[in-house]
Amino acid sequence: FRSGKTGSMTMTASEARSFGPQVRMERAGSIAVIAIDNPPINAGSLEVRRGLLDAVQAVTENTEVTGAVLIGEGTTFIAGSDLREFGQPLEDPQLPTVIQAVEVSPKPFVAAIHGAALGGGFELALGCDARVAAEDAVVGLPEVTLGIIPGAGGTQRLPRLVGLSKAIELICTGRRVSAPEASMLGLIDATFDMDLKAGAIAYASSLAGQKKPVIQRSVPREPEATIKAAEEKARKAGRERPPVLEAIRVIRLATEVTPLEALTTEREVFQRLRVSEEAFALRHHFFAERQATKPASLKEVEPHNIESVAVIGSGTMGVGIAVAALNAGFPVTLLDMDSQALERGRERLREHYEGSIARGKLSQEEVSACLNRLSIATDYEVLGTTDLFIEAVFEDLEVKQKVFRALDQVAHPNAILATNTSYLEVSRIAEVTRRPESVLGLHFFSPAQIMRLLEVVQAQHTGLEALATGMAFGRKLKKLPVLVQDSFGFIGNRIYAAYRAQCEYMLEEGAFPEEIDQALEAYGFAMGPFAVGDMSGLDIAWQMRKQRAAQRDPDARYVSIPDILCEMGRFGRKSGAGYYDYREDPKKGKPDPEVAEIIRSESERKGYTRHNFNEEEIQRRALLAMANEAALLLAEGVADRPADVDLVLVNGYGFPKWKGGPVFQARQKEPEDLAREFEELARLSEHGFRAADPASLFER
Ligand code: NAI
Repeated sequence: FRSGKTGSMTMTASEARSFGPQVRMERAGSIAVIAIDNPPINAGSLEVRRGLLDAVQAVTENTEVTGAVLIGEGTTFIAGSDLREFGQPLEDPQLPTVIQAVEVSPKPFVAAIHGAALGGGFELALGCDARVAAEDAVVGLPEVTLGIIPGAGGTQRLPRLVGLSKAIELICTGRRVSAPEASMLGLIDATFDMDLKAGAIAYASSLAGQKKPVIQRSVPREPEATIKAAEEKARKAGRERPPVLEAIRVIRLATEVTPLEALTTEREVFQRLRVSEEAFALRHHFFAERQATKPASLKEVEPHNIESVAVIGSGTMGVGIAVAALNAGFPVTLLDMDSQALERGRERLREHYEGSIARGKLSQEEVSACLNRLSIATDYEVLGTTDLFIEAVFEDLEVKQKVFRALDQVAHPNAILATNTSYLEVSRIAEVTRRPESVLGLHFFSPAQIMRLLEVVQAQHTGLEALATGMAFGRKLKKLPVLVQDSFGFIGNRIYAAYRAQCEYMLEEGAFPEEIDQALEAYGFAMGPFAVGDMSGLDIAWQMRKQRAAQRDPDARYVSIPDILCEMGRFGRKSGAGYYDYREDPKKGKPDPEVAEIIRSESERKGYTRHNFNEEEIQRRALLAMANEAALLLAEGVADRPADVDLVLVNGYGFPKWKGGPVFQARQKEPEDLAREFEELARLSEHGFRAADPASLFER
């Protein structure tokens, strides 16, 4: 069973019965075993619901049967509902009908869970009289993370087993609960480490025909203050989004109205949220993530086996990348040319892990294991057996080329060489090696141990094996790898630059930084662009603008405000002032009249008559600028598919996930209208802005 099998059947095939293509029933003495077979995850589809309903009916009617076991074929129980059905009216029988049939059947049902019982799958299990599980199983109700609430009794049965406060926590975070924790909480009645099916059959026999429906139990009592505290926490963590607020309201009904009334309300709310914009947006991400991690071009390509990693450069990014790789179990060598920088890097890495222990994220043993996998070096000679190199030295082509020449000398023939560059051409870095097919970009985001996004960059000569290895490595690090072509700014920084430029145009035309930031934060961005600039430091972009000044189109619109701020030494938070004033509170800047004056005088110098911007106009222009740039880069082939742009913006740049992303938003409009809006934006943005053909946004 541990290998993922559900154990062998001891009955003859003639006793087996099928209920449609996805459900089968066999007998073990007086116990019926109903198996769900809808690979790969046994998703709760229409066929599964139909088959289950008929099978439950058959159990109810068969006088020789005293109880039943529900189990999944293959590697899992029902790991979720079939989300492809969620965008349109759901066909009957719907899940509550199936669960009701289980509950009203006079025979006890036992859910036998291995792999995952999630969403509708776990609701079905909660509708059974008992739940038994393999020791490595997980259960959970992740509906809220998909913009909906559990709609088949999860909000009413879960609190009857764990109490209101725990139910609020579990449903509002949607987190997965491991079998040991689930047992402790009373969600699981028994665990089996060997033959789950045999255990479940024995458990069903032991119930001796006794029904124990969860819905008839009473909700454990708790002090109101405990429930309130759980509510507060969930609201805050869930940013007061409708699914979280609705989930809390509906869970509360478990102690306020009859089960029937509560279940009816739950279903109504579920049906309403299921077709909300937020739910569509979150399902869009669900599918986009699955597609992005396995691009069509790499389907048949075998990645290299990576057993060791070296990170070159022990600065901010190098340390973060090293931590991410250590956490994923890789032995890591951290190398820096500067032994003091290396020592500082090691110190920061240690501090990071001490913090992890203090915050209860990792245990002392886990941290020791990570630190034992770390070695440090100043010399490339020790790296002859390393499988994957990730370079994170200064952003300077010559420096990076020097590093790659050295790597080319020591690395074994199968090694993969990656650069974390943000803006340099990966092809230019690869060309100094004798193996450009083994060189790619792995563009991490800061802080690299936390941010999920990873742009995997295909340079001119990058081989498919190297790319597949980069993608697989990203998945091992539990990141979201997105394939991009080697082009200035890749996907993320390029779109972000177009967005920031548009916000700067609005400064010149009449808005102030705090108005723009507020409008975009109201839209759902974690932070507005000017607050972000101040946080990361305005000087880095300033240096880059100066370096690239010669390449700039002299007629293109150029906003000088950030340069003026930098010339005044206003580099952002770290210098106490940037777009905002941080002298009173280094974390929270306040609008600065001096900056307002600079902005006003720049408007005047350039001949703009300032006008007021309302929130909606700011949001519209900022979003259109992103969509326009997305259309351009898609037409150039920088991104594999339109949805990848949304993944990048949401997972790397604070775009609100529940809004889907700039492409998802643009696709709500008709292409012709969008084309008109792009033209209009080009007019407002003046020379240097290219209106895109929106067609590329609508492909695939
Ligand atoms: P950093 O300045 O903090 O660290 C660079 C480190 O590289 C220093 O410790 C330095 O001693 C070392 N180094 C320089 N030349 C070296 C050489 N020849 N051999 C070995 N070590 C050498 O820089 P940071 O911020 O970590 O950036 C590193 C790279 O990551 C850059 O290419 C940057 O563009 C990129 N990046 C940075 C992001 C950020 O938010 N800071 C985000 C994504 C990418």
